[in-house]
Amino acid sequence: MSEMNQDLSAILFDENTIRNRIFDIGAQLSIEYKDKCPVLICILKGASLFLCDLMRAMTIPLEIDFMSISSYGSGTKSTGVVQIRKDIDTDIHGRHVIIVEDIVDSGLSLNYIIDYLKNHNPASIKTCVLLNKPEAHKIDVQVDYVGFDVGNEFAIGYGLDYAEKYRNLPFIGILKEEVYS
Ligand code: IMP
Ligand code: MG
Repeated sequence: MSEMNQDLSAILFDENTIRNRIFDIGAQLSIEYKDKCPVLICILKGASLFLCDLMRAMTIPLEIDFMSISSYGSGTKSTGVVQIRKDIDTDIHGRHVIIVEDIVDSGLSLNYIIDYLKNHNPASIKTCVLLNKPEAHKIDVQVDYVGFDVGNEFAIGYGLDYAEKYRNLPFIGILKEEVYS
């Protein structure tokens, strides 16, 4: 057993469950974006594993790009302060954009990204999030494709971190409260 596993109170989604769900989303996107060559914009770092598996589950031509924003620092609650650390390189004017994000908590980060990218006049913008915390939303944020809904626990693994750790866990688990309280 990995030493990281001791910090988990439960496993939420195992590797197989994640793979199957992403396979289904990829198949759905492949139908809906046929002949549209979408640009998948991965929000670093949390959505990196999700992007890698999602794009391999898609069977149509597509492009990828990356964006990085600051939202959390090393705590577990959103600061509400959003700042762009790395911008996209692609000209998305007239393109079909799919934002690929790890998790929507308050919704502030994703909402900021949507507004920012809309200013580049894409043909369309949709969002694809691995995890969604519906009860935690503080605003009415646009969530189009969801891997899994989760409760208000702190999720780690499969790209998701706590203070930059645990991203390499191949499954998604709940972090024990005593680790961050
Ligand atoms: P929001 O702006 O409150 O929606 O926060 C979104 C960002 O906070 C996500 O992109 C994550 O990086 C981080 N975050 C929120 N909840 C969790 C969690 O349960 N585990 C890991 N990261 C989280
Ligand atoms: Mg994130």
